[in-house]
Amino acid sequence: MTAVYQQHGAIAVITLNNPPVNGLGHATRSGVVEGVNRALNDEAIKAIVITGGGKAFSGGADIKEFNSPKALQEPSLHTVIRVVEESTKPVVAAIHSVAMGGGLELALGCNYRVASPGAQIALPEVKLGILPGAGGTQRLPRVIGLEAALNMIVSGTPVLSEKLAGTKLFDQMIEGDLLQGALAFAEKVAAIRPLPKVRDMKIKHVNAEGYLQFARNTVRAVAGPFPAPLKCVEAIAAAFGKKFEDGLKVERDLFLELVQTTESKALRHAFFGERAASKILDVPADTPQREIKSAAVIGAGTMGGGIAMNFANAGIPVKILEMKQEALDKGLATIRKNYENSMKKGKLTQEKFDQRVGLISGTLSYEEIGQADIVIEAVFEDMGVKETVFKQLDAVMKPGAILASNTSTLDVDQIASFTKRPQDVIGMHFFSPANVMKLLEIVRGAKTGKDVLATTLALAKKIKKTGVVSGVCDGFIGNRMIEQYIRQAGFLLEEGCLPEQVDKAIEKLGFAMGPFRMSDLAGNDIGWYIRKRRYIDKPEVTYSKVADLLCEMGRYGQKTSGGWYDYKAGDRKAYSSAIVNDMIVAHSATLGIERRTISDQEIVERLLYSLVNEGAHILEEGIAMRASDIDMVYLTGYGFPLFRGGPMFYADTVGLSNVLMAMQRYAKGRHGDAWKPAPLLSKLAAEGASFN
Ligand code: 3HC
Ligand code: NAI
Repeated sequence: MTAVYQQHGAIAVITLNNPPVNGLGHATRSGVVEGVNRALNDEAIKAIVITGGGKAFSGGADIKEFNSPKALQEPSLHTVIRVVEESTKPVVAAIHSVAMGGGLELALGCNYRVASPGAQIALPEVKLGILPGAGGTQRLPRVIGLEAALNMIVSGTPVLSEKLAGTKLFDQMIEGDLLQGALAFAEKVAAIRPLPKVRDMKIKHVNAEGYLQFARNTVRAVAGPFPAPLKCVEAIAAAFGKKFEDGLKVERDLFLELVQTTESKALRHAFFGERAASKILDVPADTPQREIKSAAVIGAGTMGGGIAMNFANAGIPVKILEMKQEALDKGLATIRKNYENSMKKGKLTQEKFDQRVGLISGTLSYEEIGQADIVIEAVFEDMGVKETVFKQLDAVMKPGAILASNTSTLDVDQIASFTKRPQDVIGMHFFSPANVMKLLEIVRGAKTGKDVLATTLALAKKIKKTGVVSGVCDGFIGNRMIEQYIRQAGFLLEEGCLPEQVDKAIEKLGFAMGPFRMSDLAGNDIGWYIRKRRYIDKPEVTYSKVADLLCEMGRYGQKTSGGWYDYKAGDRKAYSSAIVNDMIVAHSATLGIERRTISDQEIVERLLYSLVNEGAHILEEGIAMRASDIDMVYLTGYGFPLFRGGPMFYADTVGLSNVLMAMQRYAKGRHGDAWKPAPLLSKLAAEGASFN
């Protein structure tokens, strides 16, 4: 039973006991019902306190049970709340740390609520693509008012308990020992009748209809592809002018509808995917970690500056090393400017600005960084330069320092071999802009120490990144897959598309940017440089030369005011380019290709299934540990639409046999070699199974 029953004099205490956050799974729900019934049947008991053991009152319904029969197995959360609400003895919720979702809904079913300051109070269901389904939309407006409740429910954002003190949500705030305070409160109210119930309270608002209509319009405008926010408003609207039970029914129906949507499944997949990514099978949670109290970064260029900012933002002092004073000054000035911009936008206070800038310093001398706990190299992408740097680091860094490389394409094992301490070497592949992008690919070398990996994963959390572990291979997880996507984008141009058609098709699916707009933003010359180097020893790899022709025209993208598109000064909008389009059509003619009309469906399938197939290779080679890791890479680093859950999840929703069938169709076209299915994909499709 995952709720513990104890008697304190005339008060029964039911303590939710389902670590880590007292999710209200079936066993916990049963425990609460049994506890309440036991207390009701015991004449010595005058009142009941429900509280949470460990680090939460309750994080809500057990999300892991969703879509499983256990979620609905009686006692359901509804039943639990009804049992509590119908109790003939007063029930007091004693809240600390976290009361979210179903946890808060359970508390709202109690007659009284007392809380410690600092507790996070939220109905965050909307973030999982659902709505509070156990009375939250009906009861919260009754205690904190329509507008405050609507804001909390539609945003899902936690509010600190002390900010809600003075509303009817809390009968008393308790400083000090919560249980003692709750017991004293329960004694005080034990004899009061009738028992107060939130469901009986009236919601007062001068113009509820008008406000709800305003809310509908506003929410519709910002909800994008997600259905849940608007349904939250509808559920709250049902709290007006209807009997309480009827309002509950509206809420329940909308909840059941939402929980089945792909959008909600994708959001829940991302929630667990993010947490799963930090778990490494052969690196147990109790693996010792190294202390990271100071950092150094080599190279103050595009990446080095952003990487250093991450450390400063987390309160860790960081020293940047450059070869020349001029480059160092330029890098430090860029960092300062970035912080100044944040301050101008009101995102940073002067105090925080001073703090962060104060944590970043520069040097030209390796001797000065030797005592750092971690050093991250972000110099030119050239093995010779990396060799020089890592040999120097090996000579100066204190024993036990972590030596990381931000390389995006080079072999981390080879980089490790330049040192006498390969166990301390790891890849930390940040994405540009490094101070903004959530993704951090953590590249585990053949000899990387488990403690180094565990430390780096914990560090990722500390600097607010989503750390995903990748094995060593060309391009790691993200760039290795994107190469296949870019290849297909090039072939599509040769066969009949123009850049805007490809971009629009994939953007319609929800991508932030299509491949050509993205490439114009990042700089077409980067890919050109990589292709020249990478394809020299891979003559078997076919790819469209059209991107090379574009670079030969000097069209590197936004920075040269022209790439796949034309750009006007001071304007980032992409304008269709007649010169480029003519070049593409002429290139098809040179290849003897008769251009054809290509459907959006074909564009989307070819772009996404090429990602999926490479993802399947990456999985079976063990480069990624699990499909959800690949999805996290794409959701946090490549603008893959969150509501589609990442490429592997997307393939699951399409059905792997359908993906395979489409690939077999494309294999009959040009460059059929690109469509050879990964054995894992064929196997899963044949079994009717899925990646996740
Ligand atoms: N159900 C099941 N497991 C949950 C959970 C939940 N509601 N909430 C968190 N967990 C698990 C996490 O998966 C993680 O497990 P792991 O250790 O095995 O990886 C563990 O609890 C700790 O989670 P975090 O790493 O996120 O820990 P934090 O301390 O940073 O945060 C938290 C704790 C604030 C509770 C955060 O986990 C959170 O926001 N959870 C989601 C809360 C939520 O969305 N609740 C609504 C559920 S839906 C609902 O109640 C429906 C109802 O209306 C009918
Ligand atoms: P950059 O050219 O902007 O910066 C490199 C900096 O390193 C320059 O300031 C240079 O003066 C300095 N430098 C070169 N050799 C040095 C040495 N021996 N000692 C000290 N400083 C030295 O390059 P960028 O874009 O920042 O890339 C750096 C690394 O990050 C590369 O390995 C790259 O592949 C990787 N990377 C780049 C991404 C991007 O989008 N730019 C994304 C992810 C990784």
